Amino acid sequence: MKVFITKPIAERGMGVFKKAHIDVTVWKQRKALSQDELIQKLQKYEAAICIGKYRLDENFFSKCSHLKAVSLLSVGYDNVDIAAAKKWNVPVGNTPGVLSKATADTAFLLMQMVARKAIYSYRMILENQWVERNPMDNLGIDLDGKTLGIFGLGRIGFEMAKMCQRTFGMNIIYYNRSRNEEAENELGAKKVSFDKLLQTSDVISIHSALTSETKNLFDKTAFEKMKPTSIFVNTSRGGVVDEKALIAALKKKTIWGAGLDVTNPEPMKSNNPLLKMETVAVLPHIGSATVETRSEMSRLAAENVTAVLVGKTMPNQIK
Ligand code: DGY
Repeated sequence: MKVFITKPIAERGMGVFKKAHIDVTVWKQRKALSQDELIQKLQKYEAAICIGKYRLDENFFSKCSHLKAVSLLSVGYDNVDIAAAKKWNVPVGNTPGVLSKATADTAFLLMQMVARKAIYSYRMILENQWVERNPMDNLGIDLDGKTLGIFGLGRIGFEMAKMCQRTFGMNIIYYNRSRNEEAENELGAKKVSFDKLLQTSDVISIHSALTSETKNLFDKTAFEKMKPTSIFVNTSRGGVVDEKALIAALKKKTIWGAGLDVTNPEPMKSNNPLLKMETVAVLPHIGSATVETRSEMSRLAAENVTAVLVGKTMPNQIK
């Protein structure tokens, strides 16, 4: 039995394959395979872990319908056409739960980096601009007692809300399709309309999936409804935001700042104006990138594939 993995994963995941006596080939070259090369390669394999920018769409599944299982190394699956996977009878799995804390930590980090202009201030030192102390320079904003608006209160949003409440005593409001009673009971979180979320949040943190409903949802109209002192944090997917509108909103000071772990496109070009802005912090999609979390993600991904190959049900199949 042969499995192909498009990028090296942690030892923990490799151990799952070893224990099940499953042969694995890992694409170790820095330059990723193209979409067509991957499809070509997979003809000789029974299952795969697909990591990277691959589109698992109708074309992919129609040419790889022999695959018994595919797993992602992510919770997000906006690159997968689930209907096509079902049509071609290829089970696809993801790695939910284990990355909630690490991703929320990244949102929390970005919020503080923006509030205190951390990246900009660091750059000033590099540029020899730390000349003397001026009491009116480098002023950030306090987060204590402010209102956090969570867009998409699932597992990651919940972790972010808990940290913000514990650390800064922030009030939690959220926008979700369904109520999150656990968050309401534990944190006193209040479900509000989308407009109310925009109008009353001091920090808006995005934790929703990228879908046809959320694509470019944070646009000019949305930013204009936000407070001029507000911070926009995105650790979900860059496609949820109209990046041009975000740049314009920051330039016009329609909002205070933005912390982004995800951009559109990725990687972000080094000449992107966001990178030069005083109240912006950008990270290169490191939400789940800790040793412990990536190790657990590798285990879940390997278990998704192994389960099917030994005749069991995929534990985290995307339905
Ligand atoms: C996820 O799991 O979706 C993270 O964004 C990593 O890609």
